[in-house]
Amino acid sequence: MRLTVIGTGYLGATHAACMAELGHEVLGVDVDPDKIAALRAGRVPFHEPGLPELIAQHTATGRLRFTTSYEEAAAFGQVHFSCVGTPQSKDSEAADLTYVDAVIENLGPLLPEGALVVGKSTVPVGTADRLAGRLAELAGPGAELAWNPEFLREGFAVADTLRPDRLVLGVRSARAEELLRAVYAPVIAAGTPVVSADFPTAELVKTAANAFLATKISFINAMAEVCEAAGADVSVLAEAIGHDERIGRKFLRAGVGFGGGCLPKDIRAFAHRADELGVSLAFLREVDRINMRRRDRVVELARDLCGGAVLGARIAVLGAAFKPDSDDIRDSPALNVAARLRLDGADVTVYDPQAMDNARKAFPLLGYALSAEEAVRGADVVLHLTEWPEFRELDPERLRTLAGRPRIVDGRGVLDAGRWAAAGWEFRALGRPAPGGEERQ
Ligand code: UDX
Repeated sequence: MRLTVIGTGYLGATHAACMAELGHEVLGVDVDPDKIAALRAGRVPFHEPGLPELIAQHTATGRLRFTTSYEEAAAFGQVHFSCVGTPQSKDSEAADLTYVDAVIENLGPLLPEGALVVGKSTVPVGTADRLAGRLAELAGPGAELAWNPEFLREGFAVADTLRPDRLVLGVRSARAEELLRAVYAPVIAAGTPVVSADFPTAELVKTAANAFLATKISFINAMAEVCEAAGADVSVLAEAIGHDERIGRKFLRAGVGFGGGCLPKDIRAFAHRADELGVSLAFLREVDRINMRRRDRVVELARDLCGGAVLGARIAVLGAAFKPDSDDIRDSPALNVAARLRLDGADVTVYDPQAMDNARKAFPLLGYALSAEEAVRGADVVLHLTEWPEFRELDPERLRTLAGRPRIVDGRGVLDAGRWAAAGWEFRALGRPAPGGEERQ
């Protein structure tokens, strides 16, 4: 089939490459000529394992091409995927739908009869219905809208697109469903469950899924707060409750909380939209507050370890990306904590295996090191805030010889507390007692 993918950011670039991998002819469309030039040259402007290889492979065969022209896109595609962003509005919790609207405004008037436009972005419930009305005005009754939310995780975007947990097809006609089933035929043949739904349900599946995941993380982080107060260990608690299959073990890792370009803004937009509908999702605001409190707690622990104030203290921050296997620093807990400590007068040095360029641009006042060891050299406190596998491999014995004072906060709960303590480190973790006994609490 001939598909276009409009918006070549994180979601769009991945979707375009994966659709080519499924065997389709794909045209990626973006209004940003620099992005298009980079992609044509096989450069992916963000870190995503496996994606550069896939894009190079399919641009080489010509199955995947890129353009800035909506005219070319409208003439080329049978199905047009809209993959543009829905950031948080500047002045409220609501989602900013400017880009989603612009796709319909730009593409709509150019579409031939029979075209299918498929929204993939995360939008407030009711958006698809409104966009369908606008598309009918612009393109006439021959063009149709469908809603097909994506659930991909950064770091696993290619696998999540080619082998998703489920496909959600928000459709209003049998023809739209047939076209979408044809697009995803190899994915469906591999056994992926398909859920057909009306527009509002399809939109809500995405927002509800993200709200549930965020709630699960904040639940365990609230338990971490209780564990801290009671001297209990949240990692043992999480393991034990996770053995109950109704609860499950995933997304129960306590730590400095969730960040990134999706969960924080999506729960805010969802609570805001629910208010508009006259339904209270106040608990999501508490989920957000619990999440932000974890960042406060790391700042507080750093302060405690420095004897009450961080003014003039040297602090090493390991991690800048909002999670490992990503160079995305949007709403990153690690950088938020680093920036706050800097504001309090600490001398902060950050190291991250992938996100240094992005971090430097966004936080020019922080110091940056070229390795974890360099960051730790002379530090009064080390904060481990993004759980890159290489940080787990660090040698506490060797680092102790480099640090000014051997004190570390594990903000992700994955370091081996006993090993660090045995190497002479004062070790603190969120939701867990300090190794070596309760007297430290
Ligand atoms: C998320 C959803 O998982 C995905 O389905 C949706 O399409 C977009 O939002 P992503 O933002 O890429 O994906 O990251 P994810 O792996 O879900 O992690 C989100 C945040 O939660 C990260 O900051 C991560 O560190 C944190 N997290 C995750 C925890 O703090 N504890 C956990 O147990 C799991």
